[in-house]
Amino acid sequence: RRIVVLISGSGSNLQALLDAMEHDELGGNVVAVISNKPDAYGLERAKEADVLTEVVEPSKFRHFHDERDRELYDAELIRVIDHHQPDLVVLAGFMRILTKSFVLRYHGRLMNIHPSLLPAYKGLDTHARLLADSGTEHGASVHFVTEELDGGPIIVQAAVHVLPDDTKDTLAERVLSREHLIYPMAVRWFLDGRLQLNDSGLTLDGHAL
Ligand code: GRF
Repeated sequence: RRIVVLISGSGSNLQALLDAMEHDELGGNVVAVISNKPDAYGLERAKEADVLTEVVEPSKFRHFHDERDRELYDAELIRVIDHHQPDLVVLAGFMRILTKSFVLRYHGRLMNIHPSLLPAYKGLDTHARLLADSGTEHGASVHFVTEELDGGPIIVQAAVHVLPDDTKDTLAERVLSREHLIYPMAVRWFLDGRLQLNDSGLTLDGHAL
């Protein structure tokens, strides 16, 4: 089973996937890591693990108005991804909003991890927003990607308590350590054929989630 991972930055979630792969705990292989940023540290992590890397830079697609450029970029991304014939495409800190055509193409085999207990705190700056609201419980969610931003069916979540002296950085760090546990787990469920997304919803081992 083949996995393509999309990143934009540090790639600590990618590292968790690579570590699981090394221990034969992922249910498949990361065959390529694709970044929209040439300096993403995650690319080094991939090279260290002997995984092929590619960069697809948005700057090459700034010709028309915003929507058209986005379509062209995503078409190129699809071309690069499909070359690797993935069973699953994993977004791991990929900081771009994807077009409808992209999302539809990988329907049911495109996952994302988001640093909040969805449906709460969709979008950016989740840790700071939760603290500003004096939230007491926070966490991370792995979900299938649909057209609705951060709104697809939730596969698994991990919760953390907010501590009195938490800053957005300490909170982010604690949430991230949970992300590293649940993302490889969700990927494995999928690749082992335990997780299915169909018209009636999401099931794990035949039970509705
Ligand atoms: C994580 O917070 C993840 O939830 C979000 O982007 C961040 C990626 O971090 N989608 P990393 O690049 O995996 O370290």
